Formats: sequence, C-alpha cells, structure tokens
Amino acid sequence: MEPFRFHLFVCTQQKPEGVPSCASKGSAEVLAALEREIQARGLDNDVQLTTCGCMGLCDEGPVMVVYPEGAWYRRVQPSDAPEIVSQHLREGKPLDRLIWNDASAMKAMSIEHGEHFRQAMAAREKAGTLPDRLNEMIRGFMPSRCVLTALELDIFTAVGDGANAEQVGTRIHANARAAGILLGALVSLGLLAKTGDEYKNTPETARFFVQGSKDNQRNGLLHSANIWHRWSTLTEVVRRGTHIPIDAASTPEWTTNFIAGMQRNSKDRAPLIVKALGTTGVRRILDLGGGSGSYSIAFAKASPEAQCEILDLPEVVPLTTEYVSKAGVAEQVSIRAGDMLHDDFGSGYDIVMLNAICHMFSEEQNLDIFRRARKALAPNGRLVVQDFILNPDKTGLQHAALFSVNMLVGTDAGASYSEVEYASWMKAAGFTEVNRIKLPGPSDLIVGRVK
Ligand SMILES: C[S@@+](CC[C@H](N)C(=O)[O-])C[C@H]1O[C@@H](n2cnc3c(N)ncnc32)[C@H](O)[C@@H]1O
Ligand code: FES
Repeated sequence: MEPFRFHLFVCTQQKPEGVPSCASKGSAEVLAALEREIQARGLDNDVQLTTCGCMGLCDEGPVMVVYPEGAWYRRVQPSDAPEIVSQHLREGKPLDRLIWNDASAMKAMSIEHGEHFRQAMAAREKAGTLPDRLNEMIRGFMPSRCVLTALELDIFTAVGDGANAEQVGTRIHANARAAGILLGALVSLGLLAKTGDEYKNTPETARFFVQGSKDNQRNGLLHSANIWHRWSTLTEVVRRGTHIPIDAASTPEWTTNFIAGMQRNSKDRAPLIVKALGTTGVRRILDLGGGSGSYSIAFAKASPEAQCEILDLPEVVPLTTEYVSKAGVAEQVSIRAGDMLHDDFGSGYDIVMLNAICHMFSEEQNLDIFRRARKALAPNGRLVVQDFILNPDKTGLQHAALFSVNMLVGTDAGASYSEVEYASWMKAAGFTEVNRIKLPGPSDLIVGRVK
C-alpha cells in the first residue's frame, strides 16, 4: 500500500568524473525543479519525492521512476518539471515523450551495466587501485582551497553581474592568467557559470558570497579561510602536543571574522535554546564568552523581564556592543570586558550560559569555571553548556571529533568532550541534577541545576 498518491524516485547517483551518471547530467537540478513545482501546486501531502541510487540506465539519465504506476522517465530536464507535475501528478497522465516503455531493452541495459560495473570493480581490485572514497578524502582540500581563496580575494563580488578573466584579475589586483585558471576551477565546482569569455555568479554564490547581497556571509566564512592556516600546522602540532600560535590570529580582522563566523551559527540556534530552556522565572542571565551576543539577544527578545550580562575579552567587546545595539536590546543586555578564567562572575544569576566555550579549555579549566558558575547561581539556577558532544569513546560523531582537531590546532589545551565528562565535572562542582537536552543540529545542551 502506498501512503502517498505518488512516489517519485529520482536517481542522484554520483560517479567518478567522466563516467556517465544521473548526477553529472543534472539530476540535482531536476530534483530541485520537481520540488518547487510540487510545492507551488500544493501537492506536498500527496507526493513523496525521494532520491535513489543507480538504476543501471546511466546513459539515459537523469532517470526517474513514478509509483504506483512504475512509470520510468529518462533524460528528464528541469524544464520538464512543470509538465510532469501538472500532467502526470495532477491529471494522472504520464508524459509519453519522456516515458521509456521498452521493458526488455531497459532490463538488458541494466544487466549489461551491472556486469560492466562488476568487471570494472574486479579489475580495480586486482590492480590494487586506491578506492574512490580514500582518493576523495585525500584530495578533499582542493575544492575547499579554491573556494576559500575565491572568498579571500572576493572573486565572487569581482565577477558581479558578469566579467571576463582579465576584468576579474584587474578588479582583485591579481594576475589575469592565474585568475582565469581559478575561475575555470570554480565553474567546474558549480560555483560560477561561463558563457563565451564571461563568468557569472550562480544564484547561490550571488546570494551568499557577493558584497551588497542581503544574505552575504563572506565575513563569517572568512573565519574558515583563517583557520585553514592553523590546520596546516596539524602534523607538527601532533608531534609537539600543543598548538602553534600564528601571527594572523592576533589581528583585528581575524577577531572580526571569528565573531562574524560565530554569529552565522548562533543567530539561528539561539531561539531554539531559549525555547528548550524556557523563560519562566528567568530574570538574570550571565553569558560567558557571549561573542556576537546572539543568545542574550534571543533571551532579551523572548522575555522583557530578562536582564543579560555578557562577559567577553576586551578586543571583542566593541563588536559585541555593535551586534547588541543593532538588535535593539541594549537596555536589557549589558557587556563587560574581562577574562572568564580569572575574573569574578558576580552572583544571583538564574542561568549561566557557556555556548561554544568549554571546547576552548582544558578539563581543569572547565571544572574551575563550573565551580565558580555554581557559586554565581541563585537557588534553583542552571548552568547551561552548549557544545559538540563526543560519544563516550571519543570516535564520533564525526563533526565533534573533527572539531576536537580544530581545537587541538587552535588552543593550548581545548578539545571536544563527552557527555560523561561534562556530567562528571558538573557533579564535582556541586550540581545536583544534570541532564542532556538534544537539539536539532550539531550541538546539544548539558544542563546542571543547583539546589
Ligand atoms: C567560540 S566563541 C562563542 C561565542 C558565543 N558564545 C556563541 O556561541 O556564538 C568563544 C567566545 O569566547 C570568548 N572568549 C575566549 N576566551 C575568553 C576568556 N578567557 N574570557 C572571556 N571570553 C573569552 C571569545 O572572545 C568568543 O567570543
Ligand atoms: S546513475 Fe542514474 S541510473 Fe545510473
């Protein structure tokens, strides 16, 4: 029994470059076009749209199957989506021009494809070829480096509404030949388009990477470009056991990009955390290392009763002040310059927040912060840690394990920690009730309450 009136399976299989596949023939665009049409026509509740792997008809891709009829479509283009949705999914009439009815030819092609694939795999196995997965992991830095350099040079803004390699080279004060090579690679990565000599931004890069666009995130993304330099020290860091300071990390640009990078993540998460913690009875909040102030801003907006205090380093305070005043909550959010490892926290808080903080510090430093936070809390107050939480054996989840490496190259003694570790520090610091609150996304909350 089908729970939906129609179920569409669109093949989005990726294959090595040069091998025919639905992905290389544009199935992602087909999927997006179908999704848009289905939504636009209000069919979301009747139609289930699912991606699937290779069906063995790769030369005829992008391939799609529609159930319950079991109608096989081939060579589907994004421009076909309106007709497929209006004619097949609304009127129940499959599109003859795209349907492939020749079951025996399809079966023969699929069997032949399967046989070729098995033979190719066996030949690779025999020859000792490095598996694609390992190869891709080893070369994974190449696309990343191209887009980071493009962001550093502000190439997407230089391309603007259209420019050739020479114009881009002049605008970014760089060599035209080298710019041309990078521009070509960016096209191959789907980050630019090229017609004749002219490069253009894609809708995505125009929206997220170009200065002047409402959703431009370049400043925050430059933080990733900055930490690349730290990651380059990883081999030596593992030998030495601690991070190797780099000069760039003490510049005002680095700090501005860092806080913008933090704000990019925190602004959407902050309302989730306010919802998870609730605002009832929450009057005074201490936001340790508040950065862009997103969490204090969200509390202030959610409750006129909430008074928040952000403690952050002196060089960050002017940035925090600007974010808070732009959000229009300066009356409810005060900002104090200081060092949370040494300065007094004050007292009488209902919540002390440590959002994305504990990973910067060692076990001993965190335990000390937790102890001082407990003393700063009013009766029944809560210490809230938000972070990437490792599994007990510290081998996952992957984002938490990789973030731990980010802290290894970026801090004296920071790391990602497990729930067991956070809970044991909270208990040792005198918190009676400790709970983990799972949140959508990569980080969770560990909440400790005092009596
Ligand atoms: C990873 S960011 C998190 C910012 C914010 N809590 C968020 O989640 O968006 C770490 C913050 O802690 C601040 N910080 C680092 N060391 C600190 C210290 N010793 N005392 C006070 N703040 C510190 C940084 O300046 C930065 O704003
Ligand atoms: S890649 Fe889609 S059918 Fe093979």
